[in-house]
Amino acid sequence: MQRGKFITFEGGEGVGKTTQIRLLTERLAARGINCIKTREPGGSPGGEAVRHVLLSGAAEKLGIGPRGEAILFAAARADHVDTKIRPALDRGQWVLCDRFMDSTRIYQGEHTDVPQGLVDILERIAIDGLRPDLTFVLDLRAEIGMNRANTRRTKGEIADRFEREDLSIHKNRRNAFLQLARQDPARCKVIDASQTVDEISFDIWQIVERELLLKEQGQTALLQNEKEA
Ligand SMILES: Nc1ncnc2c1ncn2[C@@H]1O[C@H](COP(=O)(O)OP(=O)(O)O)[C@@H](O)[C@H]1O
Ligand SMILES: [Mg+2]
Repeated sequence: MQRGKFITFEGGEGVGKTTQIRLLTERLAARGINCIKTREPGGSPGGEAVRHVLLSGAAEKLGIGPRGEAILFAAARADHVDTKIRPALDRGQWVLCDRFMDSTRIYQGEHTDVPQGLVDILERIAIDGLRPDLTFVLDLRAEIGMNRANTRRTKGEIADRFEREDLSIHKNRRNAFLQLARQDPARCKVIDASQTVDEISFDIWQIVERELLLKEQGQTALLQNEKEA
C-alpha cells in the first residue's frame, strides 16, 4: 500500500482555499485517488473540542493566557495529526487540509508575548515529524480577499475604522505568508489567487502532477527497471 500525500492550503481570508480544496478533490477522484478534506484548528473530534474552547471565548474567560492558548492549539493539532491525518495517509488516502502549521506561525507571529522558541517547539511536538508534501499559498491583495469574504458572509456593513484595522492586519499576514513561502520553496508554492477559479485550479493541478504524480510514476518506473535489470 502506497502512502497518501499530504497537501495543505494556506493564505488569508477569502483567497479561495475552500473552493480550491473542493476542486482538487474532484480532479484527484477523477484519477482514482481517494482523498479526504479537513481543516485547522479542529478537524478531529478532539481537535474540534479544543477549537470550541479557543474560539468560543471560554479560554479568555478562564484567564488562559497566550502561552496556554498556544499550547492548546498545539494539543488540537497533535490530536488531529494522530487520530485523523496520519491514519488516513497510512491507509493510502490523500489528505487536503485547510490551514496547517504555516497559519500558526503567521497568526502567532503577531503575538509578541509568545516567544518564537516556544512556537517552534510546539510545532515540532504537534506535527511529530509530519510535514506537508506540498503547500499551496494562495496569494491575493488583502482588499480583494476581504471583499470576497464579506460577500460570502452577506452580513451587514462593517465600521470603517474596523475595516481599516482589519485591512492592515490582513496585509501584514499576506506579506508574512509570502516570506514564509520564500524560505521553503520546495514545499510552498505561491499561486496567483487573483485569477479565475478555473485558472487557479489548473495552476494547482499542474503542480500536483509535476511534484507528486509524475515524480511518483518516475520512481515506480525506476524501481521496476532496477528489478528487471
Ligand atoms: N478565483 C476566484 N474569483 C472570484 N471569486 C472567488 C474565487 N475563488 C473563490 N471565490 C469566492 O470568494 C469567496 C471566498 O472563497 P473561499 O473558497 O471560501 O475562500 P477561503 O476558504 O480561502 O476563505 C467565495 O464566495 C467564493 O465563491
Ligand atoms: Mg474557507
